[in-house]
Amino acid sequence: MTILHANSIHKSYRTGKKHLKVLSDINLEISKGDFVTIMGPSGCGKSTLLNILGTLDKPDEGDLSLCSKNVSQLSDTALSKFRNQHIGFVFQFHHLLPEFTAEENILIPARIAGNQFESKHKAQELFEYFGLKERKDHFPLQLSGGERQRLALCRALVNEPDILLADEPTGNLDTGNANKLIEYLNNLRNEFKQTILITTHNPDVAKEGNIRLILENGTLQTNNLFENP
Ligand SMILES: Nc1ncnc2c1ncn2[C@@H]1O[C@H](COP(=O)(O)OP(=O)(O)O)[C@@H](O)[C@H]1O
Ligand SMILES: [Mg+2]
Repeated sequence: MTILHANSIHKSYRTGKKHLKVLSDINLEISKGDFVTIMGPSGCGKSTLLNILGTLDKPDEGDLSLCSKNVSQLSDTALSKFRNQHIGFVFQFHHLLPEFTAEENILIPARIAGNQFESKHKAQELFEYFGLKERKDHFPLQLSGGERQRLALCRALVNEPDILLADEPTGNLDTGNANKLIEYLNNLRNEFKQTILITTHNPDVAKEGNIRLILENGTLQTNNLFENP
């Protein structure tokens, strides 16, 4: 089952007279249960691509379908609703709200969807799965970096998204916490067939995917780094 289909996506930024082409002819197909890694150095366009694939930003050209729906023509309101129901996001910086507890934070997407009470049980399950049960009443500042990133992952999963998008989720973690996060992602894939797409500049993280890509000169290519050691 195809979860995401991107067809000939282009994106440039204009600042003053400068014209910066970031993405040119991106094509991508992701099926249920895929774990896709997109590797590339800082500035190559990973966040730009992820934001477009997650409907947070619009391409200049090209089409995007998610869960068999062409989202290119949806209104902003329809898009927000679609995103809330189908897409889970983890950003490089966790973007947790400091004045809310861990539990309140992860229920935010559920509140937006109008089912925060029904989702309390789901939140509990996620806390247990990610080893955060004892942390649910803590505020983000009272958590370690690794715990905060796992909490951001719980928040991304609370509405049971069809695809989880994570932008350099291990970028600010030490090796131990990064490995732990990757283990959780692998478990989500293996146990729940969760579809996952992450960006990274770290080859050790990139090799975890079953679909491994490199973003280079604005296009996606197969990441051959591991086939020819
Ligand atoms: N809103 C913007 N306006 C102008 N240039 C931007 C904007 N966002 C990103 N860029 C530029 O586009 C390029 C790709 O950025 P980005 O997608 O953030 O790369 P990455 O996530 O791989 O580091 C960079 O050169 C960056 O400076
Ligand atoms: Mg980035």
